[in-house]
Amino acid sequence: MAEPLPHPDLALETRLQLPADYQLILADYPREGWQGHVDFNGLAAFWLDRHLEFRQLLQRLRSEAEARIDGSLAPEAYAVRLQRMGSRFLNGLVGHHQIEDDAYFPELARLEPSIARGFEMLDSDHHALHGLIEGFAEGGNAVLMAADDAAAREAAAAFHNHLGRFQRLLARHLEDEEDLVLPVVLKHRVG
Ligand SMILES: [Fe+2]
Ligand SMILES: [Fe+2]
Repeated sequence: MAEPLPHPDLALETRLQLPADYQLILADYPREGWQGHVDFNGLAAFWLDRHLEFRQLLQRLRSEAEARIDGSLAPEAYAVRLQRMGSRFLNGLVGHHQIEDDAYFPELARLEPSIARGFEMLDSDHHALHGLIEGFAEGGNAVLMAADDAAAREAAAAFHNHLGRFQRLLARHLEDEEDLVLPVVLKHRVG
């Protein structure tokens, strides 16, 4: 279990941006300069690519749930896509969180102790996101196991709602993580 966060404004659910205390390195390495940095095409680019892939997969999962609800995607085709794309998204995200929590965050926190608490905040975000991952699996299974088409569409509507909430919180996490991580990666030429 993650330790309780010290300030409510650090919680993923209510946070609006990376807290100012954790923007110390970002101030010297603003987002506009990342792509032009001499070391961008290593771990920094890889990290952003992974995040882009998660954003795109979740958007596609949401669009396809809409297509299932409005009938433009047949139940059988939807089931195949949901199973394939859903497991790719969930397995990818769980593995990604694991390597961040176990390897990258401790290393980056050691390199920049002044913002070490920021990495604890990101670790806590992962715990919050794991609740959403469980809800995703349950919601997706409810669509696939529904007894008839009406029940499946109802389950797809609930799943679609869940994906919207997931998108909002994942977007917040990914953006704040990029603002915390990328400046440290570029400054210390990590990777
Ligand atoms: Fe993360
Ligand atoms: Fe990440």
